Amino acid sequence: MKNKTWSGRFKKQINEDVLDFSQSLTIDIVLYEADILVTEAHAEMLCKCGHISQKELKKIISGLKKLRLLANNGELPWSVELEDVHMNIESALVDLIGEVGKKIHLGRSRNDLVATDIKMYLRELLDATVLEIRELRKTIATLAVKYHSDIFPGYTHLQIAQPVTFGHHLLAWQEMISRDEERFKNVRLMINSLPLGSAALSGTSLKLDRSMVAKKLGFDSVTKNSMDAVSDRDYVIDFAYSNTMIMMHLSRISEELILWMNPQFNLIEIDESFCTGSSIMPQKKNPDVPELVRGKSGSVYGNLMGLLVLLKGLPLTYNRDLQEDKNIIFESIDTTISSIDIINKLVKTIKLNKQRAYSLAESSFSTATDLAEYLSSKGVAFRDSHHIVGSVVKYCEENNVSMDQLTVVEFNKFSKLIESDIYKCISVTHSVNARKNAGSTSPKNVLKNARLVLATLKKTAENKK
Ligand code: ARG
Repeated sequence: MKNKTWSGRFKKQINEDVLDFSQSLTIDIVLYEADILVTEAHAEMLCKCGHISQKELKKIISGLKKLRLLANNGELPWSVELEDVHMNIESALVDLIGEVGKKIHLGRSRNDLVATDIKMYLRELLDATVLEIRELRKTIATLAVKYHSDIFPGYTHLQIAQPVTFGHHLLAWQEMISRDEERFKNVRLMINSLPLGSAALSGTSLKLDRSMVAKKLGFDSVTKNSMDAVSDRDYVIDFAYSNTMIMMHLSRISEELILWMNPQFNLIEIDESFCTGSSIMPQKKNPDVPELVRGKSGSVYGNLMGLLVLLKGLPLTYNRDLQEDKNIIFESIDTTISSIDIINKLVKTIKLNKQRAYSLAESSFSTATDLAEYLSSKGVAFRDSHHIVGSVVKYCEENNVSMDQLTVVEFNKFSKLIESDIYKCISVTHSVNARKNAGSTSPKNVLKNARLVLATLKKTAENKK
């Protein structure tokens, strides 16, 4: 018999093709460290509850220690004939310590084991994702400090709308991804309840101390319903959803990078080592990295859909379909982490083309709103100011001049309230400086906010130490 663990009631050996089709070892082998940790905690609990002796526990623990070493050194003889990582670990333990190894599966099933292992593994990947996000936040905030007062064109409808500071735009990215960080942290809360002890689906008749296992493995609580615990994969979907959200943000950021690097915008330079050439056009410097991140976001969305469809229609409790969750979520996490990492490295190399940014920010009547606000500060109702400035803009367009090229006399054709202080008011520098309310683009605000982000990141990193 190929698989001794469940082959008791079978006369025939498993069909080779079925084995090949159904094994999950090639995917779930990455869970081995979690599986060993869970098995250690389970054994200690079994001993405490009197199901195995101290002597047996000692043997099991030292066997698992050896097993970990072998696995870490790539010396464990993994066998796909044993289906998955869990049966491989159990069988390797029996090979190492003999009969007593067979006691380890008491009071547990692969159904609660796989759920526990995957939660432990995802928890680690989630923490790694959060670290990557924090690195990116730091990079962006550092760049925002550097460029807190540099004028940059702000867009709506992809048309130049109002001047902003480049630092302000960067901090908008920072806001997006700090929401992602919070989202991931919430997923951690969803993950952190221990399924082990639910056994196959109904629990076990043995008396267990589940809280002890939870504490040992760093879970905040134990699951409250064994049937839900073995069939719940919500946390996998929550993780996949959080990945789609940050990929969506990275994709939007990528789109902006692509535009800004485009010679027609010419707003930023990216280090050459992050660009690629064309095999035929020698002059090209292409933004392949952000294009790839934008492209990869699509497959991460696909991963989320894959998981939702996988779970849809599954009756309680465990169904083998659930084995398919791993490939999908691992791919989603892999793509997401590597995308955050590469964007972080690329953003570090951004250099603003200050003059180009300034002159674009000055174009397109970008301070028309400032003129309207100027009139309103002199008592004109905003709707009327808006109308007056609309006429000024039309006049300028017809005469092919910018607003600051008009004389006060010309301005006065539209409103007698306009005086010579108007030129200062419609300068881009004044425009950004004047936007001082919380959340607005003034350099002072930007510098304060960027520094606050850096200080918060530093403080929370220190708290973790
Ligand atoms: N390899 C399986 C999985 O990943 C483990 C659980 C198997 N349980 C079962 N009842 N066949 O889902």
